[in-house]
Amino acid sequence: MTVLESMAPPTGGRFGDFGGRYVPESLVPACAALETAFREAWADATFHERLAELRSVYAGRPTALTPATTLSADLGITLMLKREDLAHTGSHKINNVLGQALLAQRMGKTRLIAETGAGQHGVATATAAALFGMRATIYMGERDMARQRLNVFRMELLGAEVIPVTAGSRTLKDATNEAMRGWVAAVEEAHFCLGSTAGPHPYPWLVRQFQRVIGEEARAQAAVQPDVVVACVGGGSNAAGTFAGFADTRARLVGVEAAGGAAMTHGRPGIVHGYRSMLLQDDQGQILEAESISAGLDYPGIGPEHAHLGATGRAEYATVTDDEAVAALGRLARAEGIICALESAHAVAWVLRAAGTPELPAGSTVLLTLSGRGDKDMATLAGVTE
Ligand SMILES: Cc1ncc(COP(=O)(O)O)c(C=O)c1O
Repeated sequence: MTVLESMAPPTGGRFGDFGGRYVPESLVPACAALETAFREAWADATFHERLAELRSVYAGRPTALTPATTLSADLGITLMLKREDLAHTGSHKINNVLGQALLAQRMGKTRLIAETGAGQHGVATATAAALFGMRATIYMGERDMARQRLNVFRMELLGAEVIPVTAGSRTLKDATNEAMRGWVAAVEEAHFCLGSTAGPHPYPWLVRQFQRVIGEEARAQAAVQPDVVVACVGGGSNAAGTFAGFADTRARLVGVEAAGGAAMTHGRPGIVHGYRSMLLQDDQGQILEAESISAGLDYPGIGPEHAHLGATGRAEYATVTDDEAVAALGRLARAEGIICALESAHAVAWVLRAAGTPELPAGSTVLLTLSGRGDKDMATLAGVTE
């Protein structure tokens, strides 16, 4: 068994002490059916052929690995950028959604239900639904709808119904609650197209398998194998997909959380949205609100595989503040001519801060996943810099 195969969770979906399937009884058969369908599809060459075709002729894969020449020279390191911002719809979310839409079609589903924070997963889901001739229902917190208006418009233009969520902090946590409720009510016809490596088994595993294309491509593209592999972490899908390509190498794996949503750094084990992981919570176990300028990282949990990678020491997790992320976005734009998403800017900020220190010594080779492009964040940034 290779290291990557051993990363597959056994039945029950545990990554060490984390993961599992904590769902209402009405969803147990749906999760079990999805697991069976996924295992069958993953073992079916035709499924992989169809997915590979969609990735190349529709999503624009492989995405480039771009040397960041100016920043490398400035920082005394070799920095390579895995350009998920160049994928169709503007982020890595399309990798997961194309896989899940194919799976939903195979299962005879006619509708996709999704939660979204930054709107990138919602846009990707609306896109796949249009492509596959399915209905799309996207749940989005009201606060996120206001700060990511462009993506709301894109989803609606693609024919999706966007449902505002007014509960709680009106962000991703609440949108996920409502999407799961929506799934319970429509479980026969609808597939819940979860956007990150979170949720009940099989989602954390399934989403990572659909995202591992990032790490596998990057590993094949890199002329020099990296000493350090870095990605931002919300629920953890772009990082998990990137890390999967390097898990059996000597590379250090670094996940970067938003300081206001740092479940790994400031959380404790608990259960939310059907899985056990590290969570921001109070003494009574109530889930705390996250607070980040970046809607995609504004989430109080983290995928169970990351909790396990952190607990075993295979991956490290750091935090970056809103101010550092905004500054990093601007520096990357001016140095390399790339405007990345605020989420991705967290990974860039860690590199800017750590380079030349014992955390990231001069001479290191670094591979960083730019999970998305920044168009959606221009209104937020204009507000910050005014
Ligand atoms: C561009 C971008 N990067 C990162 C994330 C965080 O998600 P994940 O941790 O699952 O990659 C999001 C979520 O919306 C996103 O839109």
